[in-house]
Amino acid sequence: MEERSRCCRMQKKEHISLQDYISNTRSRDTLHTKSNKHCIGALVRQSGNVTKQLSLSDVSQEAIEFIDSYYRHIGQNGTDLHLARIKCVEESISKTGHYELSHQELVFGAKLAWRNAPRCIGRQQWNTLEVFDCRNISSTKDMFDAICRHLEFATNKGKIRSAMTIFPARQPGQKDFRIWNPQLIRYAGYIREDGTAIGDPVNVEFTKLCQLLGWKGKRGMFDILPLVLSTNGNDPDVFEIPSNLVLQVSISHPTYEWFNELGLQWYAVPAVSDMVFDCGGIQFPAAPFNGWYMVTEIGTRDICDPQRYNMLEPIAKRMCLDTSTNSSFWKDKTMVETTLAVNYSFQTAGVTLWDHHTASDAFMKHFKQEQTVRGGCPADWVWIVPPLSGSATKVFHQEMTNYHLKPSFDYQENAAESHEWQDPKLKLQFKQKRYTLKEVTIFIMCVQYMTMKALAKRDRVCILFGTETGQSEKCARRFAEFYRNLFYVEVYSMDQYDTTRLSREHILLIITSTFGNGDPPQNAKVKTMTDYMQ
Ligand code: ARG
Repeated sequence: MEERSRCCRMQKKEHISLQDYISNTRSRDTLHTKSNKHCIGALVRQSGNVTKQLSLSDVSQEAIEFIDSYYRHIGQNGTDLHLARIKCVEESISKTGHYELSHQELVFGAKLAWRNAPRCIGRQQWNTLEVFDCRNISSTKDMFDAICRHLEFATNKGKIRSAMTIFPARQPGQKDFRIWNPQLIRYAGYIREDGTAIGDPVNVEFTKLCQLLGWKGKRGMFDILPLVLSTNGNDPDVFEIPSNLVLQVSISHPTYEWFNELGLQWYAVPAVSDMVFDCGGIQFPAAPFNGWYMVTEIGTRDICDPQRYNMLEPIAKRMCLDTSTNSSFWKDKTMVETTLAVNYSFQTAGVTLWDHHTASDAFMKHFKQEQTVRGGCPADWVWIVPPLSGSATKVFHQEMTNYHLKPSFDYQENAAESHEWQDPKLKLQFKQKRYTLKEVTIFIMCVQYMTMKALAKRDRVCILFGTETGQSEKCARRFAEFYRNLFYVEVYSMDQYDTTRLSREHILLIITSTFGNGDPPQNAKVKTMTDYMQ
Protein backbone atom coordinates (compact mmCIF):
# COMPACT_ATOMS: atom_id res chain seq x y z
CA MET A 1 0.00 0.00 0.00
CA GLU A 2 1.54 3.31 -0.98
CA GLU A 3 0.29 6.26 1.01
CA ARG A 4 0.04 9.46 -0.96
CA SER A 5 1.32 11.69 1.79
CA ARG A 6 4.53 9.64 1.99
CA CYS A 7 5.09 9.22 -1.69
CA CYS A 8 6.03 12.46 -3.40
CA ARG A 9 6.52 10.71 -6.75
CA MET A 10 2.90 9.73 -6.88
CA GLN A 11 1.85 13.22 -5.84
CA LYS A 12 3.62 14.83 -8.75
CA LYS A 13 2.77 12.13 -11.26
CA GLU A 14 -0.99 12.12 -11.36
CA HIS A 15 -1.31 8.73 -12.99
CA ILE A 16 -0.27 5.13 -12.58
CA SER A 17 0.71 3.52 -15.86
CA LEU A 18 -0.71 0.02 -16.29
CA GLN A 19 0.71 -2.40 -18.84
CA ASP A 20 -1.47 -4.90 -20.68
CA TYR A 21 1.03 -7.61 -21.58
CA ILE A 22 -1.18 -9.27 -24.18
CA SER A 23 -1.76 -6.22 -26.37
CA ASN A 24 1.48 -4.54 -25.22
CA THR A 25 -0.37 -1.32 -24.49
CA ARG A 26 -0.42 0.96 -21.49
CA SER A 27 -3.33 2.71 -19.90
CA ARG A 28 -3.53 5.12 -17.02
CA ASP A 29 -5.23 5.28 -13.69
CA THR A 30 -5.85 8.78 -12.41
CA LEU A 31 -8.83 8.03 -10.19
CA HIS A 32 -6.54 6.71 -7.46
CA THR A 33 -5.56 10.30 -6.69
CA LYS A 34 -8.99 10.66 -5.10
CA SER A 35 -7.99 8.05 -2.52
CA ASN A 36 -5.33 8.54 0.12
CA LYS A 37 -4.00 4.99 -0.23
CA HIS A 38 -3.43 2.69 -3.14
CA CYS A 39 -1.83 -0.70 -3.63
CA ILE A 40 0.59 -1.38 -6.48
CA GLY A 41 0.98 -5.07 -5.63
CA ALA A 42 -0.05 -6.15 -9.14
CA LEU A 43 2.55 -4.01 -10.94
CA VAL A 44 5.59 -5.92 -12.21
CA ARG A 45 7.96 -3.04 -11.45
CA GLN A 46 7.35 -1.35 -8.13
CA SER A 47 9.41 1.39 -6.51
CA GLY A 48 10.95 -1.08 -4.02
CA ASN A 49 12.08 -3.70 -6.52
CA VAL A 50 13.89 -1.44 -8.99
CA THR A 51 17.50 -0.63 -8.18
CA LYS A 52 18.57 2.86 -7.13
CA GLN A 53 22.08 4.36 -7.25
CA LEU A 54 23.29 4.66 -3.69
CA SER A 55 24.68 7.79 -2.06
CA LEU A 56 27.94 7.49 -0.14
CA SER A 57 26.15 7.53 3.20
CA ASP A 58 23.77 4.77 2.02
CA VAL A 59 26.80 2.70 0.96
CA SER A 60 28.32 3.02 4.43
CA GLN A 61 25.11 2.30 6.24
CA GLU A 62 24.23 -0.73 4.12
CA ALA A 63 27.81 -2.02 4.30
CA ILE A 64 27.85 -1.90 8.09
CA GLU A 65 24.41 -3.51 8.41
CA PHE A 66 25.50 -6.30 6.08
CA ILE A 67 28.89 -6.91 7.69
CA ASP A 68 27.17 -7.00 11.10
CA SER A 69 24.68 -9.59 9.85
CA TYR A 70 27.53 -11.68 8.44
CA TYR A 71 29.43 -11.65 11.75
CA ARG A 72 26.22 -12.55 13.60
CA HIS A 73 25.77 -15.41 11.14
CA ILE A 74 29.24 -16.83 11.82
CA GLY A 75 28.80 -16.34 15.58
CA GLN A 76 31.54 -13.67 15.81
CA ASN A 77 29.40 -10.64 16.55
CA GLY A 78 31.30 -7.99 18.54
CA THR A 79 34.67 -9.80 18.33
CA ASP A 80 37.93 -8.02 17.50
CA LEU A 81 37.75 -9.57 14.07
CA HIS A 82 34.31 -8.05 13.48
CA LEU A 83 35.33 -4.59 14.70
CA ALA A 84 38.52 -4.63 12.64
CA ARG A 85 36.53 -5.57 9.56
CA ILE A 86 34.07 -2.70 10.09
CA LYS A 87 36.98 -0.26 10.48
CA CYS A 88 38.61 -1.48 7.28
CA VAL A 89 35.31 -1.22 5.33
CA GLU A 90 34.64 2.30 6.60
CA GLU A 91 38.14 3.45 5.69
CA SER A 92 37.88 2.04 2.21
CA ILE A 93 34.47 3.67 1.62
CA SER A 94 35.64 7.07 2.79
CA LYS A 95 38.78 6.88 0.60
CA THR A 96 37.36 5.34 -2.56
CA GLY A 97 33.56 5.29 -2.19
CA HIS A 98 33.81 1.53 -2.49
CA TYR A 99 35.00 -1.61 -0.68
CA GLU A 100 35.49 -5.28 -1.54
CA LEU A 101 33.37 -8.01 0.00
CA SER A 102 35.35 -11.05 1.12
CA HIS A 103 34.55 -14.27 -0.73
CA GLN A 104 32.66 -15.65 2.28
CA GLU A 105 30.66 -12.45 2.68
CA LEU A 106 29.77 -12.56 -1.00
CA VAL A 107 28.52 -16.15 -0.79
CA PHE A 108 26.53 -15.39 2.35
CA GLY A 109 25.00 -12.32 0.65
CA ALA A 110 24.08 -14.21 -2.54
CA LYS A 111 22.24 -16.90 -0.59
CA LEU A 112 20.46 -14.26 1.48
CA ALA A 113 19.37 -12.40 -1.65
CA TRP A 114 17.65 -15.57 -2.85
CA ARG A 115 16.14 -16.15 0.59
CA ASN A 116 14.80 -12.57 0.44
CA ALA A 117 13.29 -12.83 -3.08
CA PRO A 118 9.54 -12.35 -2.44
CA ARG A 119 8.43 -13.67 -5.83
CA CYS A 120 10.32 -16.97 -5.79
CA ILE A 121 8.39 -20.08 -4.79
CA GLY A 122 11.55 -22.26 -4.85
CA ARG A 123 13.28 -20.60 -1.92
CA GLN A 124 13.48 -23.61 0.39
CA GLN A 125 16.64 -24.38 -1.63
CA TRP A 126 18.29 -21.03 -0.82
CA ASN A 127 21.14 -22.48 1.19
CA THR A 128 22.28 -24.83 -1.59
CA LEU A 129 23.23 -22.03 -4.01
CA GLU A 130 26.67 -22.45 -5.59
CA VAL A 131 28.44 -19.12 -6.07
CA PHE A 132 31.07 -18.55 -8.75
CA ASP A 133 33.11 -15.51 -7.82
CA CYS A 134 34.20 -13.85 -11.08
CA ARG A 135 34.71 -10.33 -9.76
CA ASN A 136 38.26 -10.24 -11.07
CA ILE A 137 37.64 -10.86 -14.76
CA SER A 138 38.07 -8.05 -17.28
CA SER A 139 37.09 -9.12 -20.82
CA THR A 140 33.89 -10.28 -22.48
CA LYS A 141 35.70 -13.48 -23.44
CA ASP A 142 36.33 -14.17 -19.75
CA MET A 143 32.66 -13.46 -19.06
CA PHE A 144 31.67 -15.87 -21.80
CA ASP A 145 33.95 -18.62 -20.44
CA ALA A 146 32.54 -18.12 -16.94
CA ILE A 147 28.98 -18.33 -18.26
CA CYS A 148 29.83 -21.56 -20.09
CA ARG A 149 31.19 -23.02 -16.83
CA HIS A 150 28.04 -21.84 -15.04
CA LEU A 151 25.77 -23.52 -17.59
CA GLU A 152 27.71 -26.76 -17.47
CA PHE A 153 27.61 -26.84 -13.67
CA ALA A 154 23.93 -25.89 -13.48
CA THR A 155 22.82 -28.35 -16.16
CA ASN A 156 24.71 -31.29 -14.64
CA LYS A 157 23.33 -33.65 -17.30
CA GLY A 158 19.78 -32.91 -16.15
CA LYS A 159 20.21 -33.02 -12.39
CA ILE A 160 19.91 -29.23 -12.22
CA ARG A 161 21.97 -27.37 -9.61
CA SER A 162 21.29 -23.80 -8.45
CA ALA A 163 24.16 -21.43 -9.19
CA MET A 164 25.09 -17.80 -9.50
CA THR A 165 28.08 -16.20 -11.22
CA ILE A 166 29.12 -12.80 -9.95
CA PHE A 167 30.92 -10.42 -12.31
CA PRO A 168 32.65 -7.13 -11.34
CA ALA A 169 30.70 -4.72 -9.16
CA ARG A 170 29.51 -1.26 -10.10
CA GLN A 171 32.29 1.15 -9.09
CA PRO A 172 32.51 4.92 -8.78
CA GLY A 173 33.83 6.47 -12.00
CA GLN A 174 33.42 3.25 -14.00
CA LYS A 175 30.75 1.87 -16.25
CA ASP A 176 28.89 -1.39 -15.68
CA PHE A 177 29.60 -4.94 -16.79
CA ARG A 178 26.35 -6.24 -18.27
CA ILE A 179 24.74 -9.32 -19.73
CA TRP A 180 22.22 -7.93 -22.20
CA ASN A 181 20.20 -11.16 -22.43
CA PRO A 182 17.20 -11.41 -20.10
CA GLN A 183 18.09 -15.08 -19.50
CA LEU A 184 21.30 -16.92 -20.45
CA ILE A 185 19.28 -19.31 -22.60
CA ARG A 186 16.29 -18.05 -24.57
CA TYR A 187 14.71 -18.56 -27.97
CA ALA A 188 14.83 -15.97 -30.75
CA GLY A 189 11.68 -14.29 -32.04
CA TYR A 190 11.24 -12.95 -35.59
CA ILE A 191 8.42 -10.96 -37.17
CA ARG A 192 7.12 -12.10 -40.57
CA GLU A 193 5.97 -9.69 -43.27
CA ASP A 194 2.34 -10.20 -42.20
CA GLY A 195 3.15 -9.19 -38.63
CA THR A 196 2.94 -12.69 -37.12
CA ALA A 197 5.87 -14.08 -35.16
CA ILE A 198 8.20 -17.06 -35.57
CA GLY A 199 9.75 -18.29 -32.32
CA ASP A 200 9.29 -16.53 -29.01
CA PRO A 201 7.62 -13.12 -29.50
CA VAL A 202 8.86 -11.88 -26.13
CA ASN A 203 12.41 -11.86 -27.53
CA VAL A 204 11.73 -10.04 -30.82
CA GLU A 205 13.42 -6.79 -29.77
CA PHE A 206 16.45 -8.57 -28.35
CA THR A 207 16.69 -10.75 -31.47
CA LYS A 208 16.74 -7.62 -33.67
CA LEU A 209 19.56 -6.25 -31.55
CA CYS A 210 21.56 -9.48 -32.00
CA GLN A 211 21.00 -9.25 -35.76
CA LEU A 212 22.17 -5.65 -35.84
CA LEU A 213 25.29 -6.82 -34.05
CA GLY A 214 25.92 -9.32 -36.83
CA TRP A 215 24.26 -12.49 -35.53
CA LYS A 216 22.56 -14.60 -38.19
CA GLY A 217 19.34 -16.15 -36.92
CA LYS A 218 17.98 -19.22 -38.69
CA ARG A 219 14.37 -18.00 -38.37
CA GLY A 220 13.40 -21.24 -36.62
CA MET A 221 10.89 -21.77 -33.83
CA PHE A 222 13.57 -22.52 -31.24
CA ASP A 223 16.85 -20.80 -32.16
CA ILE A 224 19.06 -20.30 -29.12
CA LEU A 225 20.00 -16.64 -28.89
CA PRO A 226 23.68 -15.73 -28.56
CA LEU A 227 25.10 -14.08 -25.45
CA VAL A 228 25.51 -10.30 -25.69
CA LEU A 229 28.10 -9.21 -23.15
CA SER A 230 29.75 -5.92 -22.29
CA THR A 231 32.47 -4.76 -19.89
CA ASN A 232 32.86 -1.35 -18.32
CA GLY A 233 30.45 0.45 -20.66
CA ASN A 234 32.17 -0.81 -23.84
CA ASP A 235 30.13 -1.88 -26.86
CA PRO A 236 28.99 -5.48 -26.45
CA ASP A 237 30.45 -8.63 -28.01
CA VAL A 238 28.32 -11.48 -29.28
CA PHE A 239 29.05 -15.13 -28.43
CA GLU A 240 27.22 -18.19 -29.67
CA ILE A 241 26.58 -20.64 -26.81
CA PRO A 242 28.06 -24.06 -27.72
CA SER A 243 25.10 -26.35 -28.38
CA ASN A 244 26.45 -29.10 -26.11
CA LEU A 245 25.92 -26.71 -23.18
CA VAL A 246 22.22 -26.22 -23.88
CA LEU A 247 20.17 -29.15 -22.66
CA GLN A 248 16.70 -29.17 -24.22
CA VAL A 249 13.69 -31.44 -23.87
CA SER A 250 11.23 -32.29 -26.66
CA ILE A 251 7.68 -32.19 -25.41
CA SER A 252 5.46 -35.22 -25.76
CA HIS A 253 2.35 -36.37 -23.88
CA PRO A 254 1.90 -39.61 -21.93
CA THR A 255 -1.29 -40.55 -23.83
CA TYR A 256 -1.78 -38.18 -26.80
CA GLU A 257 0.52 -39.73 -29.36
CA TRP A 258 0.17 -36.78 -31.74
CA PHE A 259 1.52 -34.31 -29.18
CA ASN A 260 5.17 -34.53 -30.27
CA GLU A 261 4.10 -33.70 -33.84
CA LEU A 262 3.59 -30.12 -32.59
CA GLY A 263 7.40 -29.91 -32.49
CA LEU A 264 7.52 -28.21 -29.11
CA GLN A 265 10.64 -28.20 -26.95
CA TRP A 266 12.08 -26.22 -24.05
CA TYR A 267 15.46 -25.66 -22.42
CA ALA A 268 16.34 -27.13 -19.03
CA VAL A 269 18.02 -24.24 -17.20
CA PRO A 270 16.15 -21.02 -16.38
CA ALA A 271 18.98 -18.54 -15.66
CA VAL A 272 17.88 -14.95 -15.10
CA SER A 273 20.66 -12.63 -16.25
CA ASP A 274 19.32 -9.07 -16.33
CA MET A 275 18.77 -8.39 -12.64
CA VAL A 276 21.14 -6.57 -10.30
CA PHE A 277 22.42 -8.25 -7.14
CA ASP A 278 22.51 -5.68 -4.37
CA CYS A 279 24.59 -6.62 -1.34
CA GLY A 280 26.10 -4.62 1.51
CA GLY A 281 25.88 -1.32 -0.38
CA ILE A 282 27.53 -2.82 -3.47
CA GLN A 283 25.66 -3.48 -6.70
CA PHE A 284 26.48 -6.24 -9.18
CA PRO A 285 24.72 -5.46 -12.48
CA ALA A 286 25.95 -8.74 -14.03
CA ALA A 287 25.13 -11.64 -11.76
CA PRO A 288 23.21 -14.41 -13.54
CA PHE A 289 21.52 -16.99 -11.33
CA ASN A 290 19.49 -20.13 -11.90
CA GLY A 291 17.33 -22.59 -10.04
CA TRP A 292 15.20 -25.15 -11.86
CA TYR A 293 11.86 -24.79 -13.55
CA MET A 294 8.43 -25.13 -12.04
CA VAL A 295 6.36 -26.85 -14.72
CA THR A 296 3.74 -24.11 -15.08
CA GLU A 297 6.39 -21.57 -16.14
CA ILE A 298 6.85 -23.54 -19.35
CA GLY A 299 3.64 -25.53 -19.83
CA THR A 300 1.13 -22.89 -18.79
CA ARG A 301 2.88 -19.59 -19.54
CA ASP A 302 5.71 -19.91 -22.10
CA ILE A 303 3.79 -22.27 -24.38
CA CYS A 304 0.19 -21.10 -23.85
CA ASP A 305 0.37 -17.34 -23.23
CA PRO A 306 -1.14 -15.43 -26.19
CA GLN A 307 1.89 -13.11 -26.31
CA ARG A 308 4.29 -16.08 -26.22
CA TYR A 309 4.09 -19.35 -28.21
CA ASN A 310 0.29 -19.03 -28.16
CA MET A 311 -0.31 -22.77 -28.63
CA LEU A 312 -3.62 -23.05 -26.78
CA GLU A 313 -5.89 -23.06 -29.80
CA PRO A 314 -3.87 -25.39 -32.06
CA ILE A 315 -3.53 -27.89 -29.22
CA ALA A 316 -7.24 -27.62 -28.32
CA LYS A 317 -8.10 -28.34 -31.97
CA ARG A 318 -5.94 -31.48 -31.90
CA MET A 319 -7.77 -32.46 -28.71
CA CYS A 320 -11.05 -32.03 -30.65
CA LEU A 321 -12.41 -29.51 -28.16
CA ASP A 322 -15.06 -26.98 -29.09
CA THR A 323 -13.09 -23.72 -29.28
CA SER A 324 -16.10 -21.69 -30.38
CA THR A 325 -17.50 -21.29 -26.89
CA ASN A 326 -16.16 -20.43 -23.46
CA SER A 327 -18.50 -22.92 -21.88
CA SER A 328 -16.55 -25.92 -23.18
CA PHE A 329 -13.65 -24.81 -20.94
CA TRP A 330 -11.34 -25.66 -23.84
CA LYS A 331 -8.63 -23.32 -22.62
CA ASP A 332 -8.62 -24.84 -19.15
CA LYS A 333 -8.54 -28.44 -20.40
CA THR A 334 -5.80 -27.67 -22.90
CA MET A 335 -3.63 -25.90 -20.32
CA VAL A 336 -3.78 -28.86 -17.98
CA GLU A 337 -2.82 -31.35 -20.71
CA THR A 338 -0.03 -29.13 -22.06
CA THR A 339 1.44 -28.60 -18.60
CA LEU A 340 1.14 -32.32 -17.92
CA ALA A 341 3.01 -33.00 -21.16
CA VAL A 342 5.89 -30.74 -20.07
CA ASN A 343 6.03 -32.46 -16.68
CA TYR A 344 6.02 -35.89 -18.27
CA SER A 345 8.68 -34.99 -20.85
CA PHE A 346 11.12 -33.48 -18.34
CA GLN A 347 10.66 -36.44 -16.01
CA THR A 348 11.17 -38.94 -18.80
CA ALA A 349 14.31 -37.09 -19.93
CA GLY A 350 15.67 -37.08 -16.36
CA VAL A 351 15.68 -33.27 -16.13
CA THR A 352 14.84 -31.69 -12.77
CA LEU A 353 11.63 -29.69 -12.59
CA TRP A 354 8.87 -29.26 -10.04
CA ASP A 355 5.17 -29.60 -10.50
CA HIS A 356 3.25 -26.72 -8.99
CA HIS A 357 1.74 -28.77 -6.15
CA THR A 358 5.13 -30.03 -4.95
CA ALA A 359 6.60 -26.52 -5.22
CA SER A 360 3.67 -25.10 -3.28
CA ASP A 361 3.97 -27.72 -0.50
CA ALA A 362 7.71 -27.11 -0.20
CA PHE A 363 7.18 -23.36 -0.10
CA MET A 364 4.58 -23.66 2.66
CA LYS A 365 7.05 -25.64 4.73
CA HIS A 366 9.75 -23.05 4.10
CA PHE A 367 7.35 -20.19 4.85
CA LYS A 368 6.39 -21.63 8.26
CA GLN A 369 9.99 -22.45 9.09
CA GLU A 370 11.15 -18.94 8.21
CA GLN A 371 8.56 -17.51 10.57
CA THR A 372 10.09 -19.58 13.35
CA VAL A 373 13.77 -19.01 12.60
CA ARG A 374 13.64 -15.51 11.18
CA GLY A 375 10.38 -13.95 12.30
CA GLY A 376 8.87 -13.88 8.81
CA CYS A 377 9.20 -14.50 5.10
CA PRO A 378 8.63 -11.74 2.54
CA ALA A 379 6.29 -13.14 -0.10
CA ASP A 380 4.43 -11.71 -3.07
CA TRP A 381 1.17 -13.66 -3.28
CA VAL A 382 0.51 -12.39 -6.80
CA TRP A 383 3.65 -14.16 -8.04
CA ILE A 384 3.81 -17.10 -5.63
CA VAL A 385 0.40 -18.56 -6.54
CA PRO A 386 0.90 -20.69 -9.68
CA PRO A 387 -0.93 -19.69 -12.88
CA LEU A 388 -2.63 -23.09 -13.12
CA SER A 389 -5.14 -24.45 -10.59
CA GLY A 390 -4.41 -21.63 -8.15
CA SER A 391 -6.79 -22.64 -5.39
CA ALA A 392 -5.77 -26.31 -5.66
CA THR A 393 -2.32 -25.31 -4.38
CA LYS A 394 -1.82 -24.58 -0.67
CA VAL A 395 -0.14 -21.21 -1.19
CA PHE A 396 -3.42 -19.78 -2.51
CA HIS A 397 -4.95 -20.07 0.96
CA GLN A 398 -2.05 -18.51 2.84
CA GLU A 399 -2.00 -14.78 3.55
CA MET A 400 1.39 -13.27 2.77
CA THR A 401 3.06 -9.95 3.25
CA ASN A 402 5.47 -8.44 0.77
CA TYR A 403 8.46 -6.30 1.67
CA HIS A 404 11.91 -5.62 0.31
CA LEU A 405 14.94 -6.80 2.28
CA LYS A 406 18.58 -6.51 1.26
CA PRO A 407 20.67 -8.27 0.04
CA SER A 408 18.31 -8.52 -2.94
CA PHE A 409 17.86 -9.20 -6.62
CA ASP A 410 16.29 -6.15 -8.24
CA TYR A 411 15.18 -4.96 -11.64
CA GLN A 412 17.48 -2.52 -13.39
CA GLU A 413 17.55 -0.43 -16.54
CA ASN A 414 17.59 -2.39 -19.79
CA ALA A 415 21.24 -2.70 -20.93
CA ALA A 416 20.48 -1.86 -24.58
CA GLU A 417 18.43 1.21 -23.72
CA SER A 418 20.95 2.72 -21.33
CA HIS A 419 24.05 2.00 -23.44
CA GLU A 420 26.07 4.81 -25.02
CA TRP A 421 27.49 3.38 -28.23
CA GLN A 422 31.22 3.89 -28.84
CA ASP A 423 31.52 2.59 -32.39
CA PRO A 424 30.24 5.36 -34.71
CA LYS A 425 28.82 2.78 -37.15
CA LEU A 426 26.82 1.09 -34.43
CA LYS A 427 25.81 4.44 -32.99
CA LEU A 428 24.38 5.40 -36.35
CA GLN A 429 22.63 2.06 -36.80
CA PHE A 430 20.90 2.33 -33.46
CA LYS A 431 20.03 5.97 -34.07
CA GLN A 432 18.56 5.07 -37.44
CA LYS A 433 16.57 2.34 -35.83
CA ARG A 434 15.07 4.80 -33.40
CA TYR A 435 13.77 7.35 -35.92
CA THR A 436 12.47 6.35 -39.34
CA LEU A 437 12.48 8.89 -42.16
CA LYS A 438 8.69 9.01 -42.01
CA GLU A 439 8.78 9.78 -38.31
CA VAL A 440 11.29 12.57 -38.81
CA THR A 441 9.28 14.15 -41.66
CA ILE A 442 6.02 14.13 -39.72
CA PHE A 443 7.89 15.46 -36.75
CA ILE A 444 9.35 18.44 -38.63
CA MET A 445 6.01 19.33 -40.20
CA CYS A 446 4.24 19.19 -36.88
CA VAL A 447 6.91 21.26 -35.20
CA GLN A 448 6.59 24.00 -37.84
CA TYR A 449 2.82 24.11 -37.59
CA MET A 450 2.73 24.03 -33.86
CA THR A 451 5.46 26.56 -33.33
CA MET A 452 3.44 29.01 -35.38
CA LYS A 453 0.36 28.34 -33.32
CA ALA A 454 2.31 28.52 -30.08
CA LEU A 455 3.58 31.94 -30.92
CA ALA A 456 -0.01 33.11 -30.90
CA LYS A 457 -0.70 31.69 -27.44
CA ARG A 458 0.31 28.77 -25.25
CA ASP A 459 -2.06 26.16 -26.46
CA ARG A 460 -3.27 22.75 -25.40
CA VAL A 461 -2.18 19.76 -27.50
CA CYS A 462 -3.88 16.43 -27.30
CA ILE A 463 -2.02 13.44 -28.74
CA LEU A 464 -3.93 10.23 -29.33
CA PHE A 465 -2.34 6.95 -30.31
CA GLY A 466 -3.68 3.75 -31.79
CA THR A 467 -1.22 0.96 -31.38
CA GLU A 468 -0.94 -2.77 -31.81
CA THR A 469 2.69 -3.38 -30.93
CA GLY A 470 3.46 -0.24 -28.92
CA GLN A 471 5.39 1.59 -31.68
CA SER A 472 2.79 4.34 -32.16
CA GLU A 473 2.57 4.82 -28.43
CA LYS A 474 6.34 5.22 -28.22
CA CYS A 475 6.21 7.70 -31.05
CA ALA A 476 3.32 9.63 -29.40
CA ARG A 477 5.25 9.87 -26.16
CA ARG A 478 8.32 11.16 -27.97
CA PHE A 479 6.25 13.93 -29.56
CA ALA A 480 4.74 14.70 -26.18
CA GLU A 481 8.17 15.09 -24.60
CA PHE A 482 9.18 17.46 -27.33
CA TYR A 483 6.08 19.66 -27.19
CA ARG A 484 5.96 19.87 -23.43
CA ASN A 485 8.05 23.05 -23.36
CA LEU A 486 5.73 24.89 -25.69
CA PHE A 487 2.32 23.47 -24.90
CA TYR A 488 0.17 21.91 -22.31
CA VAL A 489 0.32 18.31 -23.61
CA GLU A 490 -1.93 15.34 -22.95
CA VAL A 491 -1.45 11.82 -24.36
CA TYR A 492 -4.17 9.18 -24.51
CA SER A 493 -4.66 5.75 -25.93
CA MET A 494 -7.56 6.16 -28.42
CA ASP A 495 -9.81 3.84 -26.48
CA GLN A 496 -9.15 5.68 -23.23
CA TYR A 497 -10.00 9.08 -24.63
CA ASP A 498 -13.30 10.80 -23.91
CA THR A 499 -14.46 11.44 -27.48
CA THR A 500 -17.02 14.04 -26.39
CA ARG A 501 -14.02 16.34 -25.95
CA LEU A 502 -13.10 16.12 -29.63
CA SER A 503 -14.85 19.25 -30.84
CA ARG A 504 -13.23 21.29 -28.07
CA GLU A 505 -9.64 20.29 -28.80
CA HIS A 506 -7.33 23.07 -29.95
CA ILE A 507 -4.66 20.91 -31.54
CA LEU A 508 -5.20 17.23 -31.99
CA LEU A 509 -2.50 14.86 -33.19
CA ILE A 510 -3.44 11.26 -33.96
CA ILE A 511 -0.68 8.73 -34.39
CA THR A 512 -1.88 5.32 -35.39
CA SER A 513 -0.58 2.26 -37.14
CA THR A 514 -2.47 -0.23 -39.22
CA PHE A 515 -1.97 -3.92 -39.23
CA GLY A 516 -3.03 -6.96 -41.21
CA ASN A 517 -5.13 -5.73 -44.16
CA GLY A 518 -5.00 -2.10 -43.14
CA ASP A 519 -7.16 -2.72 -40.07
CA PRO A 520 -7.04 -0.30 -37.18
CA PRO A 521 -5.20 -1.45 -34.08
CA GLN A 522 -7.33 -2.93 -31.28
CA ASN A 523 -7.29 0.23 -29.20
CA ALA A 524 -8.19 2.45 -32.16
CA LYS A 525 -11.50 0.73 -32.89
CA VAL A 526 -13.51 3.62 -31.49
CA LYS A 527 -16.76 4.29 -33.28
CA THR A 528 -17.12 8.01 -32.57
CA MET A 529 -13.53 8.57 -33.52
CA THR A 530 -13.93 6.75 -36.82
CA ASP A 531 -17.08 8.74 -37.56
CA TYR A 532 -15.35 11.95 -36.64
CA MET A 533 -12.50 11.28 -38.96
CA GLN A 534 -14.78 10.45 -41.90
N1 ARG B 1 9.57 -17.80 -15.88
C1 ARG B 1 10.78 -17.80 -16.61
C2 ARG B 1 10.63 -18.71 -17.82
O1 ARG B 1 9.61 -19.28 -18.02
C3 ARG B 1 11.96 -18.26 -15.76
C4 ARG B 1 12.20 -17.43 -14.51
C5 ARG B 1 13.08 -18.12 -13.50
N2 ARG B 1 12.53 -19.38 -13.08
C6 ARG B 1 13.08 -20.24 -12.22
N3 ARG B 1 12.47 -21.36 -11.98
N4 ARG B 1 14.24 -19.99 -11.65
O2 ARG B 1 11.56 -18.88 -18.58
